[in-house]
Amino acid sequence: MEQRNILVLGAGGQLGTELVRELRAVHGPGRVIASDIREKPEMSEGGPFEQLDILNQKGLGDLFNRQKISQVYLLAALLSASGELRPGEAWDLNMRGLLQVLELARQHHCQVFWPSSIAVFGHSAPRISCPNEAVQEPSTVYGISKSAGELWCRYYFERYGVDVRSVRYPGLISYEAVPGGGTTDYAVEIFEAAVSGRHYPCYLRADTRLPMMYMPDAIRAALEIMAAPAARLSVRTSYNVAAVSFTPRLIAASIQRHIPELSWESVPDYRQKIAESWPGSIDDSLARHDWNWKPRYGIKEITDDMIAHVTPEKSQQMMEKI
Ligand code: SER
Repeated sequence: MEQRNILVLGAGGQLGTELVRELRAVHGPGRVIASDIREKPEMSEGGPFEQLDILNQKGLGDLFNRQKISQVYLLAALLSASGELRPGEAWDLNMRGLLQVLELARQHHCQVFWPSSIAVFGHSAPRISCPNEAVQEPSTVYGISKSAGELWCRYYFERYGVDVRSVRYPGLISYEAVPGGGTTDYAVEIFEAAVSGRHYPCYLRADTRLPMMYMPDAIRAALEIMAAPAARLSVRTSYNVAAVSFTPRLIAASIQRHIPELSWESVPDYRQKIAESWPGSIDDSLARHDWNWKPRYGIKEITDDMIAHVTPEKSQQMMEKI
């Protein structure tokens, strides 16, 4: 049978970096094409790499024509905090990027993974255990693009049969690549400050609770929903996936079990308002029911593993890449 490839768009970001590595380990390096707007020498060493702006419609179309693609992971996006600084750009990238990929997936019969976010929810949604089908009144351009994007995904599935699958990620914590422009990034930055002995001015208030997830769980969620039998998926907008829920005070205390000298304070900025518009925890019982989703990392496991991997050198390299 003809071999078809997997394409990861936005491969150089926080999620993409680790997802590409995992996909290459599972399917073989030659079958996973990583693509990013920026050149990524470390990625091209491990397999095929295409430097491409997903808003370059012709370039994207050519890529689909050249490569036989069976699955696309569309990760290129502007997140919540950057999106508020550049609303027009965020809308354009997040929306036009998605529509172009959905259209190409329709023409080339590809399966699509597209991450949505807790940012689809706003003040009118329940703060605790926010259900999958809660009302969506997002407060950010990022959230509006994710909310509209979910409906486009379902539209392409219902109207054209495009097999597009999605999860609503909480804040993602990882040590391989820096998160870029999210409201939940503090949960990575505080580890970097702790291991390198820097004082950390946290831009959220100490008691601001948000849902979070460790990267290995996030990668597994993507792979598991993509592998689930289509008949099991009752939701074609997006599934809540939960893991942990904590505040800056709680994660700082967890880090201080390892590094008691961690010094930090709360200096809220515009991101505080964004965080306050999101639920503090989400209910993922539908994902658990439909495709057996189950997180593995709690706050203790996340802290222990982050402390074991974030070194002062790595933290310095990550800060330089920002
Ligand atoms: N981590 C994202 C953000 O903060 C939420 O999806 O924007």
